[in-house]
Amino acid sequence: MADKTKRFFERIFNVKPEHTAFAPGRIEFIGNHTDYNGGLVMGAAVTEGITVCISSREDRAIHLVSDGAGLVKLSLDKLSPVVGPDSWLNYPVGVTKVMHDMGVEMPTGFNLAITTTLPAGAGMSSSAAFELATALALGAIYGHRTDKVGLARIGRQAENDFVGLPCGILDQGVSAFGESDSLVSIDCETEVFGIVTIPKDTHFWIFNSNKKHALVDSAYADRHEECHAALAILQKTFPGAKTLSAISQAQLDRSESALGDLLYRRACHIVGENDRVRAVEAALSSGDLLAVGAALNASHESSRVNFENSVEQLDVLVELLMEQPHIYGARLTGGGFGGAVMAFTSSKFGSDQAQAVATAYEAKCGLAATVIHTRAGQGARRL
Ligand code: GLA
Repeated sequence: MADKTKRFFERIFNVKPEHTAFAPGRIEFIGNHTDYNGGLVMGAAVTEGITVCISSREDRAIHLVSDGAGLVKLSLDKLSPVVGPDSWLNYPVGVTKVMHDMGVEMPTGFNLAITTTLPAGAGMSSSAAFELATALALGAIYGHRTDKVGLARIGRQAENDFVGLPCGILDQGVSAFGESDSLVSIDCETEVFGIVTIPKDTHFWIFNSNKKHALVDSAYADRHEECHAALAILQKTFPGAKTLSAISQAQLDRSESALGDLLYRRACHIVGENDRVRAVEAALSSGDLLAVGAALNASHESSRVNFENSVEQLDVLVELLMEQPHIYGARLTGGGFGGAVMAFTSSKFGSDQAQAVATAYEAKCGLAATVIHTRAGQGARRL
């Protein structure tokens, strides 16, 4: 991949890149929308991701090119968000702005080329991968060193402040901390990251529904607001609770009428997800894969009923998957409102079965799913 990106870079810019960096996409394994609620989450970095090559320039220009779009020329002195078809620029430009505002000295601009092995819109967070690869590349040319937490925070801040999505640390944290054959576990309140080995002979299959909610970003922001509205009500009774994740199910149940049906269900999802992350960690350490699968399925059900961030296409994929043998569990992965379903399977689940699910999905929903069989790989790094 690095060679392909280097050749692409040289063809466009007629110079050799000075540095190359890679950052992976991620699977959200369990812990849905818990990250910005100070909760627990587990994810895996995948082997697919984004590679960037960079060289410094002598002027203050920034020249950016991706394998899917033409060359764009900007200035280091005018870093503002872009709308429309070029909005992919907000990831590298947002990261540049965040690092600039942090005090990283940028005396001259840069050339940057990007290639990807992450299928577009596959629900595996190509945006976080792009942010982290860019941050590593910029760090290399401007002499800014950071640890993995720092790297994840730069990416998240670019996403929050520049792209405008009030996301938590999940995507960037997993992309930074990923390790082969491992899950990354995150306590988002303390930003403590851990590594949990994935049991042998288990596999990840991603089924991208290719359904995108027209207003996916605003739907995400709505959920973010609803969670904070629920917390504000709960804090009247439980003033010590800094986040929704500090609330127990019993406390929630006592506040059901104060919250009203909608906010009660939203909060149940977050509190339930935290419990399911704990259950999954315990089940993984005792090797109880059926219990892991049961928690994954319960997570999807809670998304469907409580958080309402599933859509019919994702529900159909989960139902079809559950009809197949050799599947421990399946659930939507990531923000929801379209996107992808993840199936956690034994090694006996194979492409024929995956194809059968995709065919039945297309017959039912009129959309072709993209199927990706992937595994957990290493986190963001310079190549
Ligand atoms: C998206 C966001 C993450 C997280 C998930 C839902 O992927 O970017 O921060 O909130 O949705 O768990």
